Amino acid sequence: MLGNKLITGENVHFDAITRDDLPLIGNWFSDTEILGFIRDIAVYPQSEQETEEWYEKIKDSKDAYHFLIRLNENNRAIGFVDLKHINFKSRWAIFGIMIGEKDCWDKGYGTEATRLMVRYGFWELNLNRIELSVVAFNERAFHSYQKLGFQQEVVKRQALYRNGEYHDTIIMGLLRDEWEANGGGEF
Ligand SMILES: CC(C)(COP(=O)(O)OP(=O)(O)OC[C@H]1O[C@@H](n2cnc3c(N)ncnc32)[C@H](O)[C@@H]1OP(=O)(O)O)[C@@H](O)C(=O)NCCC(=O)NCCS
Repeated sequence: MLGNKLITGENVHFDAITRDDLPLIGNWFSDTEILGFIRDIAVYPQSEQETEEWYEKIKDSKDAYHFLIRLNENNRAIGFVDLKHINFKSRWAIFGIMIGEKDCWDKGYGTEATRLMVRYGFWELNLNRIELSVVAFNERAFHSYQKLGFQQEVVKRQALYRNGEYHDTIIMGLLRDEWEANGGGEF
């Protein structure tokens, strides 16, 4: 398939998201533990129709790139990654990632996929800045982003209400020149 292995790291590569992947992605969107890390609205299991609507929206999007993350060793789909809300004038975008297969957490795949997407953003889409938002209790994600050079820029105090408590959310940013200066593209 065109695009398969186009963006490849040591352990993972990116693929197009197709309608065939929707049942799997629907499972990820129905996992309230996963959603608890990414949603800033109330967490609820998503219906098949909503997953279908999400797919139609991303398929036709003109200001975003979404990829399925697959393992190189067996082609298993484990999550997805995206750059959204691309600002073509000021050349920034918002990064997002979900490793939906939880047995694949903490194996380095998320960090590798983020690194690949950052390279794609800077060297293929010609972005100058990549931004993301992470809830403060998501220490795994925060650590992974920091390792790749994202800097904490803003703390939005008590911006997320979850599980009976307010939590801070953190805006992180990475600039192309600092990424290049740190040898970001070399891996
Ligand atoms: C966040 C996510 C993308 C990270 O990917 P991953 O493959 O699980 O993580 P990695 O193995 O690449 O890296 C995690 C790092 O955090 C560290 N870590 C794990 N739990 C930690 C914790 N509680 N505190 C601090 N560091 C932690 C790991 O040791 C590892 O660092 P190391 O490589 O220096 O040892 C993935 O877990 C995921 O998609 N989670 C659910 C959805 C989500 O949170 N999305 C991001 C929203 S901003």
